[in-house]
Amino acid sequence: MKDNTLLLHLFYTLLLFLGASSSSVENGSNNDPNNQNEVYIVYMGAADSSNSSLRNDHAHLLNLVLRRNEKALVRNYKHGFSGFAARLSKEEATSIAQKPGVVSVFPDPILKLYTTRSWEFLKYQSHVKIDNKPNTVSNSSSTSDVVVGILDTGIWPESASFSDEGMGPIPSRWKGTCMKAQDFNSSNCNRKLVGARYYSDPNEEDESTPRDSFGHGTHVASTAVGAAVENASFYGLGEGTAEGGSPDSRLAVYKVCSSFGCRGSAILAAFDDAISDGVDILSLSLGASPGFAPDLTTDPIAIGAFHAVERGIVVVCAAGNAGPSPNTVVNDAPWILTVAASTIDREFQSSVVLGSTKTLMGKGINFSPLSNSPRYPLIYAESAKADTADLADARQCHSDSLDANRIKGKIVVCNGNKDEAYTTADKVEIVKGAGGIGLVHITDDEGTIASNYVDFPTSLISSKDGAIVIQYINSTSNPVATVLPTVTVLEYKPAPMVPYFSSRGPSMLSSNILKPDIAAPGVNILAAWIGNSAEGAPKGRKPSPYKLESGTSMATPHVSGLASTVKTQNPTWSASAIKSAIMTTAIQNDNLKAPITTDSESVATPYDYGAGEITTSEPLQPGLVYETSTIDYLNFLCYVGLNITSVKVISRTVPDNFSCPKDSSSDLISNINYPSIAVNFTGKGIVNVSRTVTNVGEEDETIYSSIVNAPSGIKVTLTPDKLQFTKSTKKLSYQVIFSSTLISLKEDLFGSITWSNSKYTVRSPFVLTK
Ligand SMILES: *[C@@H]1O[C@H](CO)[C@@H](O)[C@H](O)[C@H]1NC(C)=O
Ligand SMILES: *[C@@H]1O[C@H](CO)[C@@H](O)[C@H](O)[C@H]1NC(C)=O
Ligand SMILES: *[C@@H]1O[C@H](CO)[C@@H](O)[C@H](O)[C@H]1NC(C)=O
Ligand SMILES: *[C@@H]1O[C@H](CO)[C@@H](O)[C@H](O)[C@H]1NC(C)=O
Ligand SMILES: *[C@@H]1O[C@H](CO)[C@@H](O)[C@H](O)[C@H]1NC(C)=O
Ligand SMILES: *[C@@H]1O[C@H](CO)[C@@H](O)[C@H](O)[C@H]1NC(C)=O
Ligand SMILES: *[C@@H]1O[C@H](CO)[C@@H](O)[C@H](O)[C@H]1NC(C)=O
Ligand SMILES: *[C@@H]1O[C@H](CO)[C@@H](O)[C@H](O)[C@H]1NC(C)=O
Ligand SMILES: *[C@@H]1O[C@H](CO)[C@@H](O)[C@H](O)[C@H]1NC(C)=O
Ligand SMILES: *[C@@H]1O[C@H](CO)[C@@H](O)[C@H](O)[C@H]1NC(C)=O
Repeated sequence: MKDNTLLLHLFYTLLLFLGASSSSVENGSNNDPNNQNEVYIVYMGAADSSNSSLRNDHAHLLNLVLRRNEKALVRNYKHGFSGFAARLSKEEATSIAQKPGVVSVFPDPILKLYTTRSWEFLKYQSHVKIDNKPNTVSNSSSTSDVVVGILDTGIWPESASFSDEGMGPIPSRWKGTCMKAQDFNSSNCNRKLVGARYYSDPNEEDESTPRDSFGHGTHVASTAVGAAVENASFYGLGEGTAEGGSPDSRLAVYKVCSSFGCRGSAILAAFDDAISDGVDILSLSLGASPGFAPDLTTDPIAIGAFHAVERGIVVVCAAGNAGPSPNTVVNDAPWILTVAASTIDREFQSSVVLGSTKTLMGKGINFSPLSNSPRYPLIYAESAKADTADLADARQCHSDSLDANRIKGKIVVCNGNKDEAYTTADKVEIVKGAGGIGLVHITDDEGTIASNYVDFPTSLISSKDGAIVIQYINSTSNPVATVLPTVTVLEYKPAPMVPYFSSRGPSMLSSNILKPDIAAPGVNILAAWIGNSAEGAPKGRKPSPYKLESGTSMATPHVSGLASTVKTQNPTWSASAIKSAIMTTAIQNDNLKAPITTDSESVATPYDYGAGEITTSEPLQPGLVYETSTIDYLNFLCYVGLNITSVKVISRTVPDNFSCPKDSSSDLISNINYPSIAVNFTGKGIVNVSRTVTNVGEEDETIYSSIVNAPSGIKVTLTPDKLQFTKSTKKLSYQVIFSSTLISLKEDLFGSITWSNSKYTVRSPFVLTK
């Protein structure tokens, strides 16, 4: 059995908690009077492209700040872009914001890391296995010189996933470094782990190391580029070969998150370094909290990513874990590849055996110490109601609602309720605290994510099975049962599905850009973990080197690994060509050959999964690509209302004669040469959109024909409807004309445009918004 996916289960995405910006300097023990000033990021756009020294205006401003306070500087950005982070008074910040060459000045966002409540936070479970590795050209004996950079919590370098066995020498163009620390030295880096940097916070001395003390960074790194490790599992669960999406690629780690979270100023410093180190792909399993939508000039990820993409680096970011509500997608700038999560075809099942010898399939991870024979007393929680408690509370096992005398030594059956504040994990604590020996939780809402209840026998069952259990209890004088330890079930159908937590479109940034872009496995993904954490380990067992985790954090490195493979096979491709290849080859059907659904069983839309679920070998040879140029992105900045003065400062490649189109309006965003299409249709009746495709297939002479899948009530016409490429014609444009007698739409409508020849299929989803 070969399981190419790296799987794991706890879910958390590093959420940059951008809201609390005004308190970014902790008062704490730091008595440096300079700390009365807050850290601001001064963003100055492009770096000097001709010359490795600071731009004159940058040097001048920095001097000004340092003259006033020589300790004010926190970070200086000069490789990939210009600017700095410094302690400034509010007045200084306001004054600097007015200076020429300054795009924006904003408080350094405090970035929060959700680590401790991950199980409670993630209520769901389910699973799948995908073939994570291209089965074509890739050649296991070869080494890729593509370097994937990961901005996260650092790395556990001793993990077998980061072995460099069989890898060639480090590419000579690589300029990165392996930073030393008390627990990290240059021997921790190798031909696989070619770079490791950290960005310590002045207030957090102990975390001045690239070493990961959380696990998240190690996990995502091994998912992206981990070497093949046989017999990996989480205490036997999900057993198989753990292997990254691009096991031949190199890894560079940028530790920007610590116990207090991830600082925007550190993230920008990491982008700046990664650009000059020479990374090819950047992977960020972190982002802003959905309630806070920073604009493009004050969002550190959008800023850093812009400059990275301008240098040809593919930037892959998590869409967020704030689903299933609409408008929750983050990291949605058009230059970012935004990743939603999907399930794989693997489930972790824990069965409930009733004394009547009926076995019910439940979900969840536990290492139940109970006997396999159903001989433990079983009680329905409402029969154990405490005298003072409400019946509904008791039925749902809310705190202080149960009579411990009646529960002691029994397996307790609790009801779930969609709207309640209690999670299964909360109920485990309540039942355990009252002396119960197991929990059967009746819930249709949880289950997508396999939470780990460790040694406490816990099984999540459907309401249909719940009725059977209650009926059994009601019909028996001494009901008994047992909860079996979890087993791995493969080839689960349907899969993939979009789990509830994955953040959804449409984008808050613009309804003329479709986000998220793509979906990839992000539920119960097994991947490497730090070696010294016994969290989640069954009693008496050593820490597991591999762990199950869930979140768009886990989906993101699958796409980063895939991008690395595409880059390895097509080293000259632009970042946008690689993104296009991944998007236009995505699939929309599950393993039942039916349209992919969400875990609440509705058919998924591009707001759930973008172009669809990634495929692994098709993106290597997509036939046609949509190339999005820097000019497209600059036009985008114009269309969303940025001042031309700022736009010119931002890009290093902006031509002198560039100006914002006179008729700049958000509707023009639809014309950016993006691999998907989003159009504001309301009040229009007819909308024209243009696109240009580039032939990257091996045949020069080829004809592509079109197929349109249009929503009812909308006519979609392509002109031309055939594309004839020749040796000299590599690029061709076409127009899409959306028309309808409907002037206003009742709801957003979805469809797709597909170009194909005998060999390739190139599909773009579209949305018409109301
Ligand atoms: C910082 O100090 C202010 C004023 O003394 C106090 O209100 C605030 O709670 C403190 N913040 C932290 C994070 O300790
Ligand atoms: C780089 O720029 C600085 C300041 O703009 C200038 O003094 C210096 O001569 C330039 N160096 C090169 C090699 O162009
Ligand atoms: C595998 O790699 C070797 C060495 O780079 C190369 O000679 C060979 O052609 C490759 N095989 C395939 C199928 O790409
Ligand atoms: C680096 O760390 C390893 C393992 O901790 C140790 O064996 C080695 O001596 C260290 N090397 C240096 C140069 O400090
Ligand atoms: C993997 O596990 C199987 C069964 O547990 C065992 O037969 C095999 O030798 C193991 N392989 C390695 C490389 O450890
Ligand atoms: C138990 O059975 C009795 C009699 O059949 C019925 O009235 C009652 O509703 C049942 N209780 C439950 C919880 O199913
Ligand atoms: C653009 O910004 C500059 C400098 O801040 C300002 O002088 C100018 O009026 C702005 N232009 C527009 C069109 O807003
Ligand atoms: C800007 O200049 C370039 C070459 O100098 C030219 O190709 C391009 O058409 C010009 N663009 C505009 C908008 O004038
Ligand atoms: C869509 O277009 C209509 C009519 O042009 C306009 O009133 C509306 O604000 C637009 N909606 C969005 C989200 O841009
Ligand atoms: C849309 O494009 C078609 C074909 O290029 C053109 O004939 C038509 O005038 C355009 N319509 C609008 C509204 O721009």
